[in-house]
Amino acid sequence: MFNLVDLKDKKILVVGASQGIGEQIAITLSRLGAQIVLASRNEEKLKNVLQKLEGEVDHQYVCIDIKELDQIEKFIKEIVNKIGSLDGMVYCVGITSDRPLSMSNISAVTEVLQVNLQGFIEMVRCVTKKGNYNMGMRIVGISSTSSLRGGKAHTAYSASKAGMNGAIRSMAVELAEKGICINSVAPAAIRTEMYEKYANGVGKSGATNKLKRQYLGIGVPEDVANAVAFLISPAARLITGVCLPVDGGYLSN
Ligand SMILES: NC(=O)c1ccc[n+]([C@@H]2O[C@H](COP(=O)([O-])OP(=O)(O)OC[C@H]3O[C@@H](n4cnc5c(N)ncnc54)[C@H](OP(=O)(O)O)[C@@H]3O)[C@@H](O)[C@H]2O)c1
Repeated sequence: MFNLVDLKDKKILVVGASQGIGEQIAITLSRLGAQIVLASRNEEKLKNVLQKLEGEVDHQYVCIDIKELDQIEKFIKEIVNKIGSLDGMVYCVGITSDRPLSMSNISAVTEVLQVNLQGFIEMVRCVTKKGNYNMGMRIVGISSTSSLRGGKAHTAYSASKAGMNGAIRSMAVELAEKGICINSVAPAAIRTEMYEKYANGVGKSGATNKLKRQYLGIGVPEDVANAVAFLISPAARLITGVCLPVDGGYLSN
């Protein structure tokens, strides 16, 4: 049967794959035939996700703390030496620092920008170096609707995700010369540990008010994984530099 998003023989690195959205992305892409390299800091969690991956291919995991930006180049080299050049990279790493502007401080903002934005840019720079990627490579960053709509106590997080969208538009222009497509997906509320922490922080009424505008209801990690599967597949050949909301209508008014 014809499969529009056939990922057989594709080697895809999923960074931030130990839980939540990244975990589901890795599982979905493996179901579609890809060989997956899982990455994040927590080895135990990565081993657990590795057990859930499907297919007859040799999936791997590698530990990395994205805050160590100068280690990313070596990290990519090690992966490529082990399994060969990559066909895709999904960047799901994300942290929040939900605090009002008056309570913000330089180190909190720096940490969010480092992990959510600088880590992404450095990862893209390294995976797109000669020898590290195959022709037709696809890159997807997990952004957020917070990149496009403001909210209380979200300054650093919104800036990091808007930065990702902006960086992608410029990188798309440069990477087109190499035949590489790069896009982001912007989820609204998706039921994961990160969302539960946010909802506990803003209280029931705050979370409910936000969800009222998410007309199709709260999302699950599969909703994001399905969008990523399409963008990372050969079927998305002519799509680059865009941010695709997966938001149940949240941004529609
Ligand atoms: N859930 C939502 O409602 C929602 C909405 C919009 C956007 N998003 C975005 O979607 C992405 C995934 O969110 P989620 O809800 O699945 O979050 P999550 O459950 O908190 O997962 C975050 C992932 O990032 C990894 N990570 C965090 N810091 C890291 C570091 N310094 N180095 C390497 N890996 C690191 C974590 O792994 P380790 O702890 O093992 O390192 C984990 O795998 C994030 O970028 C988030 O901003 C989520």
